[in-house]
Amino acid sequence: MSASPLFRTIEGPTELERFLGLPYSLNPELADDLRLGRRRTEWMWVALIEDSVVARMAWWGNPGDNKPALLDIFDIADPTDPVHRLAARNLMETATRQVIGSRAERPGYIRYVPPDWRENQASHRHVEVLIDIAGQTGARVFVERLRFEWRKGTPIAPPSGRLEFRQPHDDDEVLDLMTAVVPGSLDAHTVLDLKTMTPREAAHDHFSGELAQQISSRDNWRVATDHTGASVGFVTPGHNHYHPVIGYLAVLPEHRGNGYIHDILNTGTRILADQGVDHIRAATDLTNLPMAAAFERGGWINFERSINMTWTPP
Ligand SMILES: CC(C)(COP(=O)(O)OP(=O)(O)OC[C@H]1O[C@@H](n2cnc3c(N)ncnc32)[C@H](O)[C@@H]1OP(=O)(O)O)[C@@H](O)C(=O)NCCC(=O)NCCS
Repeated sequence: MSASPLFRTIEGPTELERFLGLPYSLNPELADDLRLGRRRTEWMWVALIEDSVVARMAWWGNPGDNKPALLDIFDIADPTDPVHRLAARNLMETATRQVIGSRAERPGYIRYVPPDWRENQASHRHVEVLIDIAGQTGARVFVERLRFEWRKGTPIAPPSGRLEFRQPHDDDEVLDLMTAVVPGSLDAHTVLDLKTMTPREAAHDHFSGELAQQISSRDNWRVATDHTGASVGFVTPGHNHYHPVIGYLAVLPEHRGNGYIHDILNTGTRILADQGVDHIRAATDLTNLPMAAAFERGGWINFERSINMTWTPP
């Protein structure tokens, strides 16, 4: 019979090597994250059995914030081993109590998974175990998202000529446009926000989130206008802490269904490509079919998905 697990934070950056012993796509980012204050050792926990890491978890936060914004690492050494699964579950409860405490809003959990995770038996089983353990602590799957990447050399279709693009006059104009696209959005986060917020508040929330994540200037942002000069949509290309990104893009409700999103996406892509980036990242909900179709038509690769879980009741 194995000893009871020990739950503790890593002891300092010197113990990072041990934390990296379990494989995950975010591992290569962790050393920089720690150095730059996006992670803290007190937010990085392990479950040890006889000195082996059988489970681990870590939160991410904006540099300078006292509390983490997201739980984005939760791994089990052997998901088929019930001892490891129990240790993982108890780790989640213990670490959350220490890191989050009684904070009313518990940060969500994001798990990156292969695009074919449902078809691939091994990843399906693994992901189901993680979802199940988080579920035992009160979480539920909130949305599954498609993660896309444009890669250097992928052709970008020339403009159709139907739209003009200009920089936004100021933040207020972007906020006005974001407020206007909120109604009828297929985006699960927006739909959830609208249960407790006005469209303006939801837009403001999203806007401040975007600003916090984009470390580049907003010179790349564009408003799309039609031949009458009316705004039909916008795109916010930029850089987050890790990648060039298309932060957000949308078409105003009265202009939807005209295929404008293709021009808007291509324009955002071209702006970053002309600046020499070798890839660009973006994401959309699995259910946002028109947006996913636009990425695919633009030659973007669906390289990964994410399962987003929340502890907030429906
Ligand atoms: C997703 C979005 C950008 C699509 O823009 P678009 O220019 O209307 O896209 P398309 O013209 O290619 O639309 C394709 C089809 O989807 C339908 N569609 C587009 N948006 C829709 C919506 N919000 N709800 C229901 N159907 C929608 C269109 O009517 C069209 O149907 P049709 O082919 O039968 O005419 C736009 O709906 C939007 O701005 N949504 C809110 C913001 C958002 O989700 N942005 C993406 C964040 S990643």
